[in-house]
Amino acid sequence: MRILLFTGKGGVGKTTAAAATATLAARRGLKTLVVSTDTAHSLADALAVPPSGEPVEAAPGLYLQQVDTQRSLERHWGELQDYARSAFHELGLDEITSEEVTVLPGAEEIIALLELREQARTGRWDVIVVDCAPTAETLRLLALPEALDWHVSRLLPIGRRLLKALGPLVRHVAKVSAPEESVLSAGERLHRGLLAVRELLTGDNASVRLVLTPEAVVVAEARRTLTSLSLYGYRVDAVIANRVFPAGGADEWRARWVEAQTRQLADVHASFAPLPILTVPYLPAEPVGVDALAEVGDALYGEHDPFAAPTGEPPMRISADELTLWLPLADKSDVDLARKGDELIVTAGSYRRVIALPAALARRTVASAALQDGHLRVTFEI
Ligand SMILES: Nc1ncnc2c1ncn2[C@@H]1O[C@H](COP(=O)(O)OP(=O)(O)OP(=O)(O)O)[C@@H](O)[C@H]1O
Ligand SMILES: [Mg+2]
Repeated sequence: MRILLFTGKGGVGKTTAAAATATLAARRGLKTLVVSTDTAHSLADALAVPPSGEPVEAAPGLYLQQVDTQRSLERHWGELQDYARSAFHELGLDEITSEEVTVLPGAEEIIALLELREQARTGRWDVIVVDCAPTAETLRLLALPEALDWHVSRLLPIGRRLLKALGPLVRHVAKVSAPEESVLSAGERLHRGLLAVRELLTGDNASVRLVLTPEAVVVAEARRTLTSLSLYGYRVDAVIANRVFPAGGADEWRARWVEAQTRQLADVHASFAPLPILTVPYLPAEPVGVDALAEVGDALYGEHDPFAAPTGEPPMRISADELTLWLPLADKSDVDLARKGDELIVTAGSYRRVIALPAALARRTVASAALQDGHLRVTFEI
């Protein structure tokens, strides 16, 4: 099973690229599920089908699942709600309703990712395409389980685990005393679930496609996104430049855009090489419906096989005395390394990853660390 994630700045065409890729997969006879971690019904709108909480067939072999946060929360996380309720109660707040739980930041995406894992486990799909939330949220979310694992297993007493684990959900109630036993187990289940999601999304069959439009502000953000995705162990296998103005026969206004975009595209090629840069023209109409999306898919991939297994090294490699982490486009002055017991804490700009060292390296002292050609290389004393 192949998992393809689409992310990028708001409005650049993530949903369109995800839906186009999924449409292409289904047309090639692959059993395809396309899911959104976003509660807006854009994916259903793009495919021109009514939204549904269960996978519905939008075209032959193409299933769409728009996670119904409310329903899946009720189905899976009753205990969690109990916990949130009692926590709120302790704070002297009114009973929290399940509707309110889902309003807390991050809850929706978390639930969508847990549902995604359930779908992956059914073995029913050849391809799962995920339309992710815009850049920052997706990143924070994807980094969450690992960071939590660190807090959970090493820093915090058991009762506070859950509060940390559910940071986005219960940040408001962080002062509350330890939750009840039954709730803790629900929290631990959630935590394990999140770790499994991360494993799935950083695994050998998963990759991220970074969507951008050739505009300076968007490209700058995409560069940071590539660094942080790699920092967190996600494999990026292509950059998609969307809404590229066609050159030729242009009036003054479009000619200026073509010129500006050409400069940006050159920068994109220089920045993101050796990743393939796939382009989609600015179409004369919104690509809505499977036929229009299939055309976008064809323009997007051309001869490129969108469903081939990702090639190249994973972002992090660990050998007997060395750890290497690919940090593409990271600036030396932005990268920082700290050692804390069994962990290595790597900071790149405003993102931080806590890496639990394998037993063989955990007992050894760091001998050297250097950032060279986008690779952070940390060596350990023998
Ligand atoms: N190449 C294109 N040509 C013309 N219109 C496009 C193109 N790509 C996307 N659009 C249109 O632009 C709008 C935004 O695209 P889309 O919804 O895919 O962006 P998004 O990145 O998912 O946005 P959000 O961050 O809000 O989720 C949609 O109306 C879509 O149909
Ligand atoms: Mg979208």
